[in-house]
Amino acid sequence: MPKRRRNPRNADVSDVNGEDDVVLRETAPLQLRYYGDSVLRKRAKPVVEITDADIQLAEQMLMTLEATGNGIGLAATQVGVLKRLTVVDLGEVDDEVYEPLVLFNPEILSSEGEIVAEEGCLSIPDITADVKRPERIVVEGINVQRESIRIESDGLLARVLLHEIDHLNGVLFIDRISGLKRRLLSDELLRLQQAPRPS
Ligand code: NI
Repeated sequence: MPKRRRNPRNADVSDVNGEDDVVLRETAPLQLRYYGDSVLRKRAKPVVEITDADIQLAEQMLMTLEATGNGIGLAATQVGVLKRLTVVDLGEVDDEVYEPLVLFNPEILSSEGEIVAEEGCLSIPDITADVKRPERIVVEGINVQRESIRIESDGLLARVLLHEIDHLNGVLFIDRISGLKRRLLSDELLRLQQAPRPS
């Protein structure tokens, strides 16, 4: 999921320190999958044992997210890997800096309230719409240290987690908008679906 404003942290790549710079050069971002790609409609499978390769995938996903310049969440499905893995990097929100988050096998334990906010998706470029979602959630999963963690969240973090968990179930945010709004977007969605993409 992209943020609406460009993240100033990512606005100038030359700002990164020397060490990060080497990593950025040595590891290429993963290829994003776009609307129309059938992989986005598939259900990802639980990660039974988290291997070193899975950890590396999570790190590559965080790097891919960073490379988008405005991304705050990415599901493995969006890089064509059908594993239940998502990464979130909110950066700075309302003067608070959030650490990047890796979550294997995320499960929603509970949710409450309802709130509407604008969303977009890195796999559906240039389209945004208001989406109604639970306001507060409790999510459980396994972090990059292979520890079980529980996250109580609201606001942007809750929204991103719900959006990314949807991806792991083959669900896109446009599935959650009103029929009228979807009809208004139908030409644009058709254009995206038919757009040539790098393979
Ligand atoms: Ni998305």
